[in-house]
Amino acid sequence: MVSVLIGHPFSARLPTVILVTGAAGFIGSNFVLEWLRATGEPVVSLDALTYAGNLENLASLEGDARHHFVRGDITDRALVDSLLAKHRPRAIVHFAAESHVDRSIHGPEAFLRTNIHGTFVLLEAARHYWASLRGDAPEAHAAFRFLHVSTDEVYGSLAADDPAFTETHPYQPNSPYSASKAASDHLVRAWHHTYGLPVLTTNCSNNYGPFQFPEKLIPLVITRALRGEPLPVYGDGMNVRDWLYVTDHCEAIRMVLERGRLGETYNIGGWNEKSNIEIVRTVCALLDEMQPDSVGPRERLITFVTDRPGHDRRYAIDARKIADEIGWQPAETFETGIRRTVRWYLDHAGWVEGVLSGRYQDWVQSHYADRDTPAS
Ligand code: NAD
Ligand code: TYD
Repeated sequence: MVSVLIGHPFSARLPTVILVTGAAGFIGSNFVLEWLRATGEPVVSLDALTYAGNLENLASLEGDARHHFVRGDITDRALVDSLLAKHRPRAIVHFAAESHVDRSIHGPEAFLRTNIHGTFVLLEAARHYWASLRGDAPEAHAAFRFLHVSTDEVYGSLAADDPAFTETHPYQPNSPYSASKAASDHLVRAWHHTYGLPVLTTNCSNNYGPFQFPEKLIPLVITRALRGEPLPVYGDGMNVRDWLYVTDHCEAIRMVLERGRLGETYNIGGWNEKSNIEIVRTVCALLDEMQPDSVGPRERLITFVTDRPGHDRRYAIDARKIADEIGWQPAETFETGIRRTVRWYLDHAGWVEGVLSGRYQDWVQSHYADRDTPAS
């Protein structure tokens, strides 16, 4: 890890670096890449490399002195304490989570462990670290931030004619996943109100783009369609999600970190409501255009299947607060973002093959088999 001074107002005496949890996952890896592109400021990445964490997502940073990867669990307090003491980050950006609703229905325990207990451990470690800065680095103490990345799913489900979620919408989580994220949001809020920890929370709508694990709708449809497999659409296909291209989410987080008001929450969304069936048909049409299938249009693969239990009908984000206060607007439209996404999956068949075959997990096993969690 090379520590460099790059003139951030954090402190004239401390190196600037941020700690990113969940950095090998879908959004976390996009965030680290976008952050380094935009700021050049070093990053310490912490990730347990669960099934969803893939170091191939960060392969372009190999040998880059600005990036330091640590395999470890956010529930490991000793590890988190040691990372904070060693690297002295000016901010923690917290992505690490179990993130898939269907998995949470089949096995909720891991969601409670990582999303709730893991967030609690990070908050406690951050609180003690932040307090320790007060005496020896008052500027660093004043500038420190804990940014918690959350989801619109904490607000529950909207009817067709309900207004979109604002930041004051009541919390009504319906799935084990959203309940665990709601609990973590409440912990973050409480650590601000009780201990004064300088926190920010973002609640974002559904993301799509490069490096998304093909269990989520869009990459699942792309990868299955390319293999000529059935495309499962839950229920009547008329559930609505509000889609945002992942790098727009990453830029929003970066801007909230720099400009957000402490203790505030910011909804992030692209004003892009689409029904699931519309998404699936769009992906099929783009694949037909970019890589025609001799058997015929991919829509033939669409298969309506039994609905997800407790399936939320509609999510929609009112993103006026972040636009007005922070000045953030998405750069991609859905049309440009989905085209880039389909192109990316076509151009990265090796990444897809590694994920679907589990090859990347075999690599994790062999690479880490003979060692305990590294201390740094
Ligand atoms: P992901 O499942 O792709 O990645 C999660 C990452 O966290 C993985 O790299 C995994 O290895 C790591 N992780 C899991 N448990 C861990 C633990 N105990 N300790 C350390 N690392 C651990 O998830 P994602 O889609 O990138 O989502 C990232 C964050 O953004 C999550 O907090 C999620 O709730 C939130 N979010 C996601 C979306 C979306 O559409 N994907 C939308 C809004 C908010
Ligand atoms: P998903 O990508 O799992 O995200 P979330 O549940 O967090 O919104 O699902 C997006 C939508 O697509 C959701 O309404 C469920 C639906 N869906 C299907 O119809 N079929 C599928 O195979 C999957 C994974 C999701």
